[in-house]
Amino acid sequence: MVKKILVTGSNGLIGSEVCAHFDRQGFSIHGLDNNQRAVFFGPAGDTRWNQRRLEETLADFTHHELDIRARAAVEALVREVSPALVVHTAAQPSHDRAAAIAFEDFDTNAGGTLNLLEACRRHCPDSPFIHMSTNKVYGDGPNRLPLVELAKRWDYADDHQQHGIAETFPIDQCLHSLFGASKAAADLLVQEYGRYFRMPTACLRGGCLTGPNHSGVELHGFLSYLVKCNLEGREYCVFGYQGKQVRDNIHSEDVARFMHQFYLNPRCGEVYNLGGGKDNSCSILEAFELVESITGKRQSHRYVDQNRLGDHICYYSDLRKMRQQYPSWGLTHSLPQILEQLVRAWHRRLETSPAGA
Ligand SMILES: NC(=O)c1ccc[n+]([C@@H]2O[C@H](COP(=O)([O-])OP(=O)(O)OC[C@H]3O[C@@H](n4cnc5c(N)ncnc54)[C@H](O)[C@@H]3O)[C@@H](O)[C@H]2O)c1
Repeated sequence: MVKKILVTGSNGLIGSEVCAHFDRQGFSIHGLDNNQRAVFFGPAGDTRWNQRRLEETLADFTHHELDIRARAAVEALVREVSPALVVHTAAQPSHDRAAAIAFEDFDTNAGGTLNLLEACRRHCPDSPFIHMSTNKVYGDGPNRLPLVELAKRWDYADDHQQHGIAETFPIDQCLHSLFGASKAAADLLVQEYGRYFRMPTACLRGGCLTGPNHSGVELHGFLSYLVKCNLEGREYCVFGYQGKQVRDNIHSEDVARFMHQFYLNPRCGEVYNLGGGKDNSCSILEAFELVESITGKRQSHRYVDQNRLGDHICYYSDLRKMRQQYPSWGLTHSLPQILEQLVRAWHRRLETSPAGA
């Protein structure tokens, strides 16, 4: 029998990549999205183009126009589809946007996740449930680590931190932003359904996830937005930390590949830090240089001497737990390769839809 996967946030960066990945594995794909990203971020965040792409290119794709906050409708859908795998990526994803839309943020990120978990517990408790969490659950805790300031970036000063931030890093008693708090609530719920009900659940605490299908905007999707600015000759605004703040970047395809490995060998209530690790990390200043070397266009920027509240100074994921538990998984896209893909994708999108892209 054909296996079914339910993907929430299927119009988005990660959701659409997961749909395409499991389509190639012969799954029947059920995508759930209501284009809420356009509500959160305006027309530049519109994801309908990506939905159309999935509808036109996947072999067996059904779109469900649904809000994950609609508890009864979510339960009815999970009962009807009875998926063999659930990948939950629908979210209000912006750290900075959350403060202005506190209820929408919490109801989507925490409430929506609970709706899905409870529906799955009732109708498909043995199906792996993979949740896209975030490194913002660690709040600004990583900023307390001793750091060293280099010419173009910050880095960890202590040797034992050389692999990055591990899953054992504490998540409480620090500043999170409302987004970090709503995602931490969801993360704990997903862990709890794994531990309390023994459901095969995983939280993937993402670093910077990116790829050609991101509708990058200033408030979410750092590399995608930066490339867009460069191609359009638009000024990029750098907030604090001298532009030396470090992010680790992972291609959405490598995220989907990890999810597949988890699906094949699930565990209960697990947590993984999923990012590009040290090798795929860069500061904003370094990202400017990398993009300039690909496009040949200089990136202008404006410096605002005020960091975003709770923003990480230096964060890259320690990937050792993932590699140890799933040795056949590894990164397949280097940072320069990711950037080349982003440049090509934005070129195409800006040519076809200069205003809305
Ligand atoms: N992109 C990153 O850098 C990053 C980093 C860490 C964690 N994450 C997490 O990964 C997940 C996916 O991120 P992404 O970059 O693909 O985001 P995205 O905004 O591209 O995709 C999310 C999708 O969910 C949909 N959505 C939002 N609210 C909804 C609702 N109430 N009902 C139905 N659909 C809804 C949106 O329309 C959008 O298409 C999120 O949980 C995010 O917090 C992302």
